[in-house]
Amino acid sequence: MARAEKITLKVNGEPHSLTIDPGEPLLWVLRDQLKLTGTKFGCGEGECGACSVLINGEVFRSCMVTVGELAADDQIVTIEGLGRPGNLSELQRAFVDHTAFGCGYCTPGMIVTAEALLRSNPHPSRDEIVSAMDDNLCRCASYPAIVEAVASVAGGVKRED
Ligand code: FES
Ligand code: FES
Repeated sequence: MARAEKITLKVNGEPHSLTIDPGEPLLWVLRDQLKLTGTKFGCGEGECGACSVLINGEVFRSCMVTVGELAADDQIVTIEGLGRPGNLSELQRAFVDHTAFGCGYCTPGMIVTAEALLRSNPHPSRDEIVSAMDDNLCRCASYPAIVEAVASVAGGVKRED
């Protein structure tokens, strides 16, 4: 039988106290307990990137992180923490403006991954954008528009000589 423990998670700036199995993947706690369903389940094996979230500013696959591995002051940010309808982040707005999606299922993971890239490298080259987004899968093959959307926010994109 699964053992439950009291665990505190800080998600999108708000602390949440939960009594849960520490072996539970963060993905399911976000979706089922906290109702943050923007974070998607794709493969469940760390391969597709649909479940990407930021933890202390770095991108992680939430299907591969158990809540027991997290500290109470770790800053977890989901797609909902970046912006909401009516108050979209610059990246979210760029994805809309560039129609950088088909079905939209991979989009939260793409945006979270791009957010991590731009925080660490505000002016990436196109190659750096492609390389940072490369492990996120899009079954609708919206890759060219996704790169355009990220590049538009990157503003002074470095020239490729
Ligand atoms: S669902 Fe986590 S990487 Fe695919
Ligand atoms: S927009 Fe459909 S999977 Fe990427």
